[in-house]
Amino acid sequence: MAAAIETQKLTKSYKSKQLGIVNVVDNLDLYVEEGEIFGFLGPNGAGKTTTIKMLLGIIYPTSGEGYVLGKEIGDMDVHKIISYLPERPYYYEHMTGTELLRFYDSLFGNNDPAKVQRLLERVNLAADATKTISQYSKGMQQRVGLAQSLLNDPKLLFLDEPTGGLDPIAHTEIRDLILNFREEGRTVFISSHELSEVERICDRVAIIHRGVIRRQGKLTELLKGGRVEVEAEGITKEFEDSIKIEGAIISLKDGRLIVDMPEEADVNSLLDGIRSSKGSVTSVIPRRKRLEDLFVETVRDSSRVSMAEGGVEA
Ligand SMILES: Nc1ncnc2c1ncn2[C@@H]1O[C@H](COP(=O)(O)OP(=O)(O)OP(=O)(O)O)[C@@H](O)[C@H]1O
Ligand SMILES: [Mg+2]
Repeated sequence: MAAAIETQKLTKSYKSKQLGIVNVVDNLDLYVEEGEIFGFLGPNGAGKTTTIKMLLGIIYPTSGEGYVLGKEIGDMDVHKIISYLPERPYYYEHMTGTELLRFYDSLFGNNDPAKVQRLLERVNLAADATKTISQYSKGMQQRVGLAQSLLNDPKLLFLDEPTGGLDPIAHTEIRDLILNFREEGRTVFISSHELSEVERICDRVAIIHRGVIRRQGKLTELLKGGRVEVEAEGITKEFEDSIKIEGAIISLKDGRLIVDMPEEADVNSLLDGIRSSKGSVTSVIPRRKRLEDLFVETVRDSSRVSMAEGGVEA
Protein backbone atom coordinates (compact mmCIF):
# COMPACT_ATOMS: atom_id res chain seq x y z
CA MET A 1 0.00 0.00 0.00
CA ALA A 2 1.22 3.48 -0.84
CA ALA A 3 1.39 6.25 1.72
CA ALA A 4 -1.41 8.81 1.57
CA ILE A 5 0.43 11.00 4.06
CA GLU A 6 4.02 10.82 5.17
CA THR A 7 5.94 13.34 7.22
CA GLN A 8 9.51 13.47 8.41
CA LYS A 9 10.42 15.62 11.37
CA LEU A 10 7.60 18.03 10.54
CA THR A 11 7.82 20.92 12.99
CA LYS A 12 5.93 24.13 13.64
CA SER A 13 7.22 26.68 16.13
CA TYR A 14 5.60 29.79 17.49
CA LYS A 15 7.08 32.49 19.61
CA SER A 16 5.50 32.77 23.01
CA LYS A 17 6.03 35.73 25.37
CA GLN A 18 6.35 33.50 28.43
CA LEU A 19 8.11 30.45 27.00
CA GLY A 20 10.16 31.78 24.09
CA ILE A 21 10.08 29.59 20.99
CA VAL A 22 7.76 26.63 21.41
CA ASN A 23 7.46 23.67 19.05
CA VAL A 24 3.71 23.18 18.97
CA VAL A 25 4.32 20.36 16.49
CA ASP A 26 7.65 18.76 17.18
CA ASN A 27 9.53 16.49 14.74
CA LEU A 28 6.42 14.66 13.64
CA ASP A 29 6.88 11.39 11.74
CA LEU A 30 3.44 10.46 10.55
CA TYR A 31 2.48 7.64 8.23
CA VAL A 32 -1.02 7.15 6.83
CA GLU A 33 -1.77 4.41 4.33
CA GLU A 34 -3.99 4.93 1.32
CA GLY A 35 -7.52 3.67 1.87
CA GLU A 36 -7.48 3.65 5.66
CA ILE A 37 -9.30 5.63 8.29
CA PHE A 38 -6.63 7.19 10.43
CA GLY A 39 -7.42 8.68 13.84
CA PHE A 40 -5.34 11.62 14.98
CA LEU A 41 -5.85 11.96 18.70
CA GLY A 42 -4.59 14.16 21.47
CA PRO A 43 -5.75 16.46 24.25
CA ASN A 44 -6.75 20.08 23.60
CA GLY A 45 -3.82 22.08 22.34
CA ALA A 46 -1.78 18.97 21.43
CA GLY A 47 -1.08 20.18 17.89
CA LYS A 48 -3.69 18.33 15.82
CA THR A 49 -5.20 21.26 13.93
CA THR A 50 -1.77 22.79 13.43
CA THR A 51 -0.59 19.53 11.85
CA ILE A 52 -3.65 19.34 9.60
CA LYS A 53 -3.12 22.93 8.48
CA MET A 54 0.50 22.17 7.59
CA LEU A 55 -0.53 19.07 5.64
CA LEU A 56 -3.06 21.18 3.75
CA GLY A 57 -0.53 23.89 2.99
CA ILE A 58 -2.56 26.50 4.91
CA ILE A 59 0.39 27.25 7.20
CA TYR A 60 4.08 26.65 6.55
CA PRO A 61 6.15 24.22 8.57
CA THR A 62 9.12 25.70 10.42
CA SER A 63 11.15 22.63 9.42
CA GLY A 64 10.78 19.06 8.24
CA GLU A 65 9.05 17.52 5.26
CA GLY A 66 5.66 16.19 4.40
CA TYR A 67 4.05 14.42 1.45
CA VAL A 68 0.36 14.18 0.71
CA LEU A 69 -0.67 11.68 -1.97
CA GLY A 70 2.92 11.57 -3.12
CA LYS A 71 3.30 15.35 -3.55
CA GLU A 72 5.16 17.71 -1.32
CA ILE A 73 2.88 19.61 1.03
CA GLY A 74 1.64 22.85 -0.42
CA ASP A 75 1.51 21.42 -3.96
CA MET A 76 -1.53 23.06 -5.53
CA ASP A 77 -2.42 20.06 -7.72
CA VAL A 78 -3.13 18.00 -4.63
CA HIS A 79 -5.82 20.45 -3.54
CA LYS A 80 -8.04 19.20 -6.35
CA ILE A 81 -8.15 15.70 -4.89
CA ILE A 82 -8.23 16.35 -1.15
CA SER A 83 -10.78 18.04 1.04
CA TYR A 84 -11.02 19.52 4.49
CA LEU A 85 -13.77 19.87 7.04
CA PRO A 86 -12.43 22.42 9.56
CA GLU A 87 -13.18 22.15 13.28
CA ARG A 88 -15.01 25.48 13.14
CA PRO A 89 -16.39 25.79 9.63
CA TYR A 90 -17.40 29.25 8.53
CA TYR A 91 -20.10 29.51 5.91
CA TYR A 92 -21.96 32.33 4.24
CA GLU A 93 -24.97 32.43 6.52
CA HIS A 94 -27.40 33.95 4.02
CA MET A 95 -27.06 31.06 1.55
CA THR A 96 -29.30 28.02 1.55
CA GLY A 97 -27.73 24.56 1.74
CA THR A 98 -28.21 24.13 -1.99
CA GLU A 99 -26.80 27.56 -2.84
CA LEU A 100 -23.78 26.98 -0.63
CA LEU A 101 -22.92 23.66 -2.24
CA ARG A 102 -23.44 25.04 -5.75
CA PHE A 103 -21.21 27.97 -4.87
CA TYR A 104 -18.39 25.72 -3.63
CA ASP A 105 -18.87 23.45 -6.64
CA SER A 106 -18.39 26.49 -8.89
CA LEU A 107 -15.04 27.18 -7.18
CA PHE A 108 -13.85 23.87 -8.63
CA GLY A 109 -15.08 25.08 -12.02
CA ASN A 110 -18.12 22.77 -11.91
CA ASN A 111 -21.83 23.32 -12.26
CA ASP A 112 -23.60 20.11 -11.41
CA PRO A 113 -26.96 20.65 -9.62
CA ALA A 114 -27.74 16.92 -9.75
CA LYS A 115 -24.55 16.15 -7.84
CA VAL A 116 -25.41 18.81 -5.24
CA GLN A 117 -28.84 17.24 -4.80
CA ARG A 118 -27.31 13.77 -4.43
CA LEU A 119 -24.89 15.01 -1.79
CA LEU A 120 -27.65 16.75 0.16
CA GLU A 121 -29.54 13.47 0.16
CA ARG A 122 -26.45 11.57 1.17
CA VAL A 123 -25.96 13.68 4.30
CA ASN A 124 -29.69 13.65 5.08
CA LEU A 125 -30.28 17.34 4.40
CA ALA A 126 -32.54 17.15 1.37
CA ALA A 127 -35.56 18.27 3.41
CA ASP A 128 -33.63 21.28 4.75
CA ALA A 129 -31.97 22.26 1.49
CA THR A 130 -33.93 25.52 1.19
CA LYS A 131 -33.20 26.75 4.71
CA THR A 132 -30.40 29.26 5.04
CA ILE A 133 -27.21 28.30 6.89
CA SER A 134 -28.18 30.77 9.65
CA GLN A 135 -31.25 28.58 10.21
CA TYR A 136 -29.20 25.39 10.39
CA SER A 137 -28.52 23.67 13.70
CA LYS A 138 -24.94 22.74 14.55
CA GLY A 139 -25.50 19.19 13.34
CA MET A 140 -26.95 20.44 10.05
CA GLN A 141 -23.93 22.70 9.56
CA GLN A 142 -21.67 19.75 10.18
CA ARG A 143 -23.55 17.72 7.57
CA VAL A 144 -23.47 20.46 4.97
CA GLY A 145 -19.73 20.63 5.66
CA LEU A 146 -19.40 16.93 4.96
CA ALA A 147 -21.38 17.33 1.73
CA GLN A 148 -19.10 20.20 0.77
CA SER A 149 -16.05 18.06 1.48
CA LEU A 150 -17.31 15.52 -1.07
CA LEU A 151 -17.92 17.96 -3.93
CA ASN A 152 -14.56 17.32 -5.60
CA ASP A 153 -14.79 13.54 -5.16
CA PRO A 154 -11.65 13.60 -2.96
CA LYS A 155 -9.17 10.76 -2.55
CA LEU A 156 -8.23 12.01 0.90
CA LEU A 157 -10.43 13.78 3.42
CA PHE A 158 -9.22 15.70 6.46
CA LEU A 159 -11.98 15.85 9.04
CA ASP A 160 -11.17 17.93 12.11
CA GLU A 161 -13.64 16.98 14.86
CA PRO A 162 -16.48 15.97 12.52
CA THR A 163 -18.81 14.85 15.32
CA GLY A 164 -18.08 17.59 17.86
CA GLY A 165 -21.29 18.58 19.64
CA LEU A 166 -23.57 16.26 17.71
CA ASP A 167 -26.40 14.18 19.13
CA PRO A 168 -25.98 10.38 19.30
CA ILE A 169 -28.09 9.74 16.20
CA ALA A 170 -26.10 12.24 14.16
CA HIS A 171 -22.95 10.55 15.45
CA THR A 172 -24.07 7.20 14.14
CA GLU A 173 -25.04 8.68 10.77
CA ILE A 174 -21.74 10.47 10.37
CA ARG A 175 -19.84 7.38 11.45
CA ASP A 176 -21.64 5.38 8.75
CA LEU A 177 -20.84 8.05 6.19
CA ILE A 178 -17.15 7.93 7.10
CA LEU A 179 -17.18 4.12 6.85
CA ASN A 180 -18.73 4.51 3.39
CA PHE A 181 -15.88 6.81 2.40
CA ARG A 182 -13.45 4.00 3.13
CA GLU A 183 -15.58 1.53 1.14
CA GLU A 184 -15.34 3.94 -1.77
CA GLY A 185 -11.55 3.73 -1.53
CA ARG A 186 -10.99 7.15 0.03
CA THR A 187 -8.47 7.79 2.79
CA VAL A 188 -9.85 9.57 5.84
CA PHE A 189 -7.68 11.47 8.30
CA ILE A 190 -9.83 12.26 11.27
CA SER A 191 -9.06 14.22 14.37
CA SER A 192 -11.46 13.52 17.19
CA HIS A 193 -11.99 13.44 20.93
CA GLU A 194 -14.74 10.83 20.56
CA LEU A 195 -12.59 7.87 21.42
CA SER A 196 -15.31 5.23 21.26
CA GLU A 197 -16.17 6.38 17.72
CA VAL A 198 -12.53 6.32 16.74
CA GLU A 199 -12.17 2.84 18.18
CA ARG A 200 -15.06 1.65 16.06
CA ILE A 201 -13.99 3.07 12.74
CA CYS A 202 -10.24 3.70 12.61
CA ASP A 203 -7.67 1.26 11.25
CA ARG A 204 -4.70 3.05 12.75
CA VAL A 205 -4.21 5.95 15.13
CA ALA A 206 -1.57 8.33 16.37
CA ILE A 207 -1.69 9.97 19.79
CA ILE A 208 -0.03 13.35 19.94
CA HIS A 209 0.69 15.26 23.14
CA ARG A 210 2.46 18.62 23.34
CA GLY A 211 3.36 18.37 19.68
CA VAL A 212 5.04 14.98 19.95
CA ILE A 213 3.67 11.66 18.70
CA ARG A 214 3.61 9.35 21.69
CA ARG A 215 1.96 6.32 20.07
CA GLN A 216 1.25 5.38 16.49
CA GLY A 217 0.09 2.11 14.98
CA LYS A 218 -2.68 -0.32 14.21
CA LEU A 219 -5.50 -0.16 16.72
CA THR A 220 -5.56 -3.94 17.01
CA GLU A 221 -1.87 -3.89 17.98
CA LEU A 222 -2.13 -0.90 20.30
CA LEU A 223 -5.11 -2.36 22.13
CA LYS A 224 -3.50 -5.70 22.83
CA GLY A 225 -3.01 -6.54 26.48
CA GLY A 226 -6.63 -7.02 27.58
CA ARG A 227 -7.54 -9.53 30.28
CA VAL A 228 -10.14 -12.24 30.75
CA GLU A 229 -11.57 -13.12 34.12
CA VAL A 230 -12.88 -16.63 34.66
CA GLU A 231 -14.88 -17.53 37.76
CA ALA A 232 -15.81 -21.04 38.82
CA GLU A 233 -17.22 -22.93 41.80
CA GLY A 234 -16.58 -26.35 43.29
CA ILE A 235 -12.84 -26.12 42.69
CA THR A 236 -10.23 -28.08 44.65
CA LYS A 237 -6.81 -26.90 45.79
CA GLU A 238 -5.24 -29.59 43.55
CA PHE A 239 -6.93 -28.15 40.50
CA GLU A 240 -5.83 -24.64 41.42
CA ASP A 241 -2.24 -25.88 41.75
CA SER A 242 -2.44 -27.50 38.31
CA ILE A 243 -3.21 -24.20 36.53
CA LYS A 244 -0.14 -23.05 34.66
CA ILE A 245 -1.00 -19.87 32.79
CA GLU A 246 1.67 -17.27 32.33
CA GLY A 247 0.71 -13.86 33.65
CA ALA A 248 -2.41 -15.16 35.43
CA ILE A 249 -3.52 -13.97 38.85
CA ILE A 250 -5.27 -16.87 40.58
CA SER A 251 -7.27 -16.95 43.79
CA LEU A 252 -9.27 -19.70 45.50
CA LYS A 253 -11.53 -19.28 48.49
CA ASP A 254 -14.19 -21.73 49.71
CA GLY A 255 -14.03 -23.58 46.38
CA ARG A 256 -14.56 -20.37 44.42
CA LEU A 257 -11.85 -19.84 41.85
CA ILE A 258 -11.03 -16.56 40.11
CA VAL A 259 -8.46 -16.55 37.31
CA ASP A 260 -7.56 -13.18 35.86
CA MET A 261 -5.53 -13.97 32.74
CA PRO A 262 -4.10 -12.28 29.63
CA GLU A 263 -6.62 -12.32 26.75
CA GLU A 264 -4.21 -14.22 24.51
CA ALA A 265 -3.96 -17.13 26.99
CA ASP A 266 -5.85 -20.36 26.28
CA VAL A 267 -9.19 -19.71 28.00
CA ASN A 268 -10.82 -22.80 26.49
CA SER A 269 -8.31 -25.20 28.04
CA LEU A 270 -8.98 -23.68 31.45
CA LEU A 271 -12.75 -24.00 30.97
CA ASP A 272 -12.37 -27.62 29.82
CA GLY A 273 -10.18 -28.34 32.85
CA ILE A 274 -12.70 -26.82 35.26
CA ARG A 275 -15.52 -28.91 33.80
CA SER A 276 -13.59 -32.16 33.75
CA SER A 277 -12.61 -31.62 37.40
CA LYS A 278 -16.38 -31.40 38.15
CA GLY A 279 -16.23 -27.66 38.83
CA SER A 280 -18.74 -25.29 37.27
CA VAL A 281 -17.90 -22.14 35.37
CA THR A 282 -19.97 -19.22 36.71
CA SER A 283 -18.67 -16.43 34.49
CA VAL A 284 -16.19 -15.51 31.79
CA ILE A 285 -15.68 -11.76 31.49
CA PRO A 286 -13.42 -10.32 28.80
CA ARG A 287 -11.91 -6.99 29.83
CA ARG A 288 -10.69 -5.54 26.58
CA LYS A 289 -8.27 -2.68 26.62
CA ARG A 290 -10.15 0.37 25.39
CA LEU A 291 -8.79 3.24 23.37
CA GLU A 292 -9.75 5.49 26.25
CA ASP A 293 -7.41 3.53 28.57
CA LEU A 294 -4.60 3.75 26.04
CA PHE A 295 -5.17 7.47 25.56
CA VAL A 296 -5.20 8.30 29.28
CA GLU A 297 -2.19 6.05 29.92
CA THR A 298 -0.24 7.63 27.05
CA VAL A 299 -1.00 11.22 27.97
CA ARG A 300 -0.31 10.55 31.66
CA ASP A 301 3.02 8.86 30.92
CA SER A 302 4.16 11.64 28.62
CA SER A 303 3.13 14.27 31.22
CA ARG A 304 5.24 12.42 33.80
CA VAL A 305 8.23 12.40 31.45
CA SER A 306 7.84 16.14 30.81
CA MET A 307 7.58 16.85 34.53
CA ALA A 308 10.69 14.75 35.23
CA GLU A 309 12.49 16.76 32.56
CA GLY A 310 11.52 19.95 34.37
CA GLY A 311 8.60 20.84 32.12
CA VAL A 312 5.40 22.53 33.16
CA GLU A 313 2.19 20.61 33.62
CA ALA A 314 -0.47 21.74 31.13
N1 LIG B 1 -1.08 31.09 15.34
C1 LIG B 1 -0.63 30.62 16.50
N2 LIG B 1 0.25 31.33 17.26
C2 LIG B 1 0.72 30.84 18.43
N3 LIG B 1 0.37 29.65 18.93
C3 LIG B 1 -0.50 28.91 18.24
C4 LIG B 1 -1.05 29.35 16.98
N4 LIG B 1 -1.89 28.38 16.51
C5 LIG B 1 -1.86 27.40 17.44
N5 LIG B 1 -1.04 27.72 18.46
C6 LIG B 1 -0.76 26.89 19.66
O1 LIG B 1 -0.40 25.59 19.22
C7 LIG B 1 -0.85 24.61 20.13
C8 LIG B 1 -1.59 23.55 19.34
O2 LIG B 1 -2.82 24.08 18.87
P1 LIG B 1 -3.81 23.22 17.95
O3 LIG B 1 -4.92 24.11 17.52
O4 LIG B 1 -3.02 22.54 16.89
O5 LIG B 1 -4.32 22.13 18.99
P2 LIG B 1 -5.37 20.93 18.80
O6 LIG B 1 -4.64 19.68 19.10
O7 LIG B 1 -6.04 21.05 17.49
O8 LIG B 1 -6.37 21.21 20.00
P3 LIG B 1 -7.99 21.05 20.09
O9 LIG B 1 -8.25 19.62 20.46
O10 LIG B 1 -8.34 21.96 21.23
O11 LIG B 1 -8.60 21.47 18.79
C9 LIG B 1 -1.68 25.34 21.18
O12 LIG B 1 -0.88 25.54 22.31
C10 LIG B 1 -2.00 26.67 20.51
O13 LIG B 1 -2.13 27.69 21.46
MG1 LIG C 1 -8.00 21.40 16.93
